[in-house]
Amino acid sequence: MDVDVVIIGAGASGLTAATRLRAAGHSVAVLEARDRVGGRLRTETIEGALLELGGQWVSPDQTALIETVEELGLETYSRYREGDSVYVNAAGELTRFTGELFPVAADTQKEMERLIAMLDELTAEIGPTEPWAHPKAAELDAVSWGEWLEKQTDDVEARDNIALFIAEAMLTKPSHAFSALQAILMAASAGSFSHLVDADYILDKRVAGGLQLVPITLAEKLGDAVHLGAPVRRLEWSEDGVTAHADGLTVTARRAVVAVPPNLYGRISFEPPLPFRQQQMHQHVSLGLVIKVHAVYETPFWREAGLSGTAFSPYQPVHEAYDNTNLDDERGTLVGFVSDLKADAMLALPAEERKRRILESLAAYYGPQALEPVVYYESDWAAEEWTGGAYAASFDLGGLSRYGADQRTPVGPIYWSCSDVAAEGYQHVDGAIRMGRLTADEIAATLA
Ligand code: FDA
Repeated sequence: MDVDVVIIGAGASGLTAATRLRAAGHSVAVLEARDRVGGRLRTETIEGALLELGGQWVSPDQTALIETVEELGLETYSRYREGDSVYVNAAGELTRFTGELFPVAADTQKEMERLIAMLDELTAEIGPTEPWAHPKAAELDAVSWGEWLEKQTDDVEARDNIALFIAEAMLTKPSHAFSALQAILMAASAGSFSHLVDADYILDKRVAGGLQLVPITLAEKLGDAVHLGAPVRRLEWSEDGVTAHADGLTVTARRAVVAVPPNLYGRISFEPPLPFRQQQMHQHVSLGLVIKVHAVYETPFWREAGLSGTAFSPYQPVHEAYDNTNLDDERGTLVGFVSDLKADAMLALPAEERKRRILESLAAYYGPQALEPVVYYESDWAAEEWTGGAYAASFDLGGLSRYGADQRTPVGPIYWSCSDVAAEGYQHVDGAIRMGRLTADEIAATLA
């Protein structure tokens, strides 16, 4: 097969790039390793319950995703958010609250507000586009997020809570494992640190039928240009073009888009090998680890108790949880997340013991009824060969300032596109779409 552009990976990014290149008059072939499209977006019916196993929420700053959802004619709806949220402190005490700020002692609350204001300022100053180019980049990239917070405040609970918004909740790595600069990129990519604190903002809308409908609908429009079950094993390249060798299929093209997360670049054998800088850089990027847990109940019982379903605690195995009931569903669904070191500990347990511990953590928020779901499901992205973690990739300490500027630089005819290298929408579907658009435009300019 011979096309203008071969796209490796049928996630949101690759399918956006393919759609845009085709609209610009270029022929494309999309090669996807799995037997389905969507990558980290997947909706499945598990024991009669429709569950979004990967990405699902849309926030107001994610304008590229919102545009795509509208263009594809998909319907959105709001997450249930009436009533009180709950917070569990280090002593295991539960407090109900409304608004964004956790119900902590007045001094701690003040410290949290001070830190949020400081981070908002730093985030606005550094921005998402070129954090590595800022004069403070090297300094902020040499210190871990956890250590940076320790330098700002002695208030442990304030620190634990502020750390959570980036560590457990976003990068899904321990706060000692990534830099303050990486944390600021995360906040800047969402518009501000305050946005990450505001669950009603960051988890605003869902797509009826599941967010995987975005890649599914894009792929339907691309028709037979999308090839499933076609993992690309080898990519031969020269300044003249590429030959992609997938299982059962070989495609020659003038350009290639590698639309897979950076932790998987090494699964492709590049011939000739990539330059040293790319090979080094790719070893400093890794995916985080989070278990996304769904528990479905006969009714959304927490609503009767006046609870919204929103729950937080840096001290619980499930550090955050939400009402995740589907549109027009009579049953009630909770979704919870277990991140980084806590996920390591949980995954070391036998499945039944893990389930018991996770449900106990949900019960700490919602009471004993949470112990008896009718459907229970853990998404295990880290065990998936063509993902290897969740939600997305980030650099180790010092990596962002050292390599960030080069992560999208093409190598000959090879371009890189995924949510993990985005500025706005970094780690999110919005970023995947933005990168798909940008990459397609860059390639189209060279083909014209
Ligand atoms: P993605 O990984 O989706 O696509 C890459 C594709 O390449 C995959 O289909 C893979 O199979 C394929 N591939 C890999 N190697 C290949 C090879 N050698 N040959 C051929 N194909 C290959 N985002 C958000 O906006 N809101 C949210 O609520 C969440 N929540 C969330 C929860 C969970 C559990 C996860 C795992 C992720 C999220 N995210 C999210 C993140 C979001 O899902 C993610 O950033 C994007 O879907 C990534 O899209 P990409 O196209 O960049 O990569």
